[in-house]
Amino acid sequence: MSALEKAFYSPVGRKVAAKAGLAEPPRLRRGRTFPQGAIVLAPLGPSTLVAETLALLGRAHESPVVDDGDEAPGYGDRIGALVVDATDARTVSELEGLRAVLRPAVRGIERAGRIVVVARPGGGGGWEADAVARALDGINRTVAKELRGGATSTLVYAHEGATPGDLVSTLGFVLQGRSAFVDGQAWHVRPAAVAAAALDARPLDGRVCVVTGAARGIGAAIVRTLARDGAVIVAVDVPAAGEGLAAVANEVGGTALQLDITADDAGARIAAHVAARGARIHAMVHNAGITRDKILVNTDAARWGSVVDVNLAAQMRINDVLLDPATEGGMADQGRIVGVASTSGLAGNKGQTNYAASKAGVAGLVISMAPDLAARGITANAVAPGFIETDMTARIPFVQREVFRRSNSLSQGGSPVDVAETIGYLVDPASQGVTGQVIRVCGQNLVGA
Ligand SMILES: NC(=O)c1ccc[n+]([C@@H]2O[C@H](COP(=O)([O-])OP(=O)(O)OC[C@H]3O[C@@H](n4cnc5c(N)ncnc54)[C@H](O)[C@@H]3O)[C@@H](O)[C@H]2O)c1
Repeated sequence: MSALEKAFYSPVGRKVAAKAGLAEPPRLRRGRTFPQGAIVLAPLGPSTLVAETLALLGRAHESPVVDDGDEAPGYGDRIGALVVDATDARTVSELEGLRAVLRPAVRGIERAGRIVVVARPGGGGGWEADAVARALDGINRTVAKELRGGATSTLVYAHEGATPGDLVSTLGFVLQGRSAFVDGQAWHVRPAAVAAAALDARPLDGRVCVVTGAARGIGAAIVRTLARDGAVIVAVDVPAAGEGLAAVANEVGGTALQLDITADDAGARIAAHVAARGARIHAMVHNAGITRDKILVNTDAARWGSVVDVNLAAQMRINDVLLDPATEGGMADQGRIVGVASTSGLAGNKGQTNYAASKAGVAGLVISMAPDLAARGITANAVAPGFIETDMTARIPFVQREVFRRSNSLSQGGSPVDVAETIGYLVDPASQGVTGQVIRVCGQNLVGA
């Protein structure tokens, strides 16, 4: 902590910060923990999809309080979550049903509680149904901004044919503390060939997961989280980070592979390392990344090339090798590829043209790969972290850093574990129906979210 930070976080500094409107950020709920209060289920029609998914999660549910007057009625006790089954909603007038259950809930939700809406994505149901699908997105983003106390709001688009088994990992993730820093966004779940029967606490048991940039920061958190979920870890980082890499790998009983991912033979060396252990790869997590920030007018070819090569081109070369079915130690069928993008790539960020190019490229890459890999049951997704407290962001000047920290709906920076948990959700074998998605882990960044 710098001298300025020490002053800022001192008792006097905190008082000054509170006066300036910078209140203490809410404590988030983390880990494989469900909300404490009741889970309230509000079906807007006859669908039992969400009720059956909650049953698979082993969660009982209660009926909602419905607003029908000037004064919103309240819940007796604080509720843990409101889950709305809006999969029958097709008309604008049906949105009123959502308002009527949301209004009492936004006031009655517990600290770090959850609002979750499950809906159809539109497409094929006519203009009004498409408008409604999009209206739900607007509602979700807005409710997320209005909730207090670390509570979050999520919209899940369940495609026609998606079963409770297809939804169980997503609803489990969203309700649990694993999704602490994922707020105000929507993603898609499609029907999968292999549906899950329940939420598994160690879904990666014995499966090989390769994590690049694993020596520190977000990469080290990914290693710990996937190992907690049962994974056999291969931790990759540059030789210069060898000491930290060995420590992280040893901590979880994994193996370390010292490797610069931009090397021509990087993919082959990863595959050889895995093949030597008689395995194939369940998950390839492309986390290694660098920044070389300058406004474009000062960005020369070297600054451009190094960032684009580490953050994007190296991933593509490695994927090509690992996805070749003939590669021993390559990707297993039903495997998982996860790229680490950034909200800088989605929203743009002054001084980061090279970085934004590479990170938006990662998003484009997984969206393009997903349909091509579906026949093998391999999914390709990306996470886009916002402001996460790591060595990378510790280099940002303090005042600017404090502004970034506060510029999201949860008024704080995220923790590396928040990114790691989201990746854990994506690589869970039960997340088979989640592919081609880019999930932001940004607390609903006010810019670009
Ligand atoms: N920290 C944030 O707020 C934030 C926000 C958005 C995205 N991200 C992304 O998350 C990822 C991890 O970020 P972090 O904050 O933990 O960064 P970090 O700098 O703390 O760690 C990155 C790791 O990648 C390794 N690495 C770099 N180049 C490599 C190469 N050529 N081969 C192998 N390993 C290499 C480094 O040695 C380091 O251990 C990066 O892709 C970053 O762009 C971070």
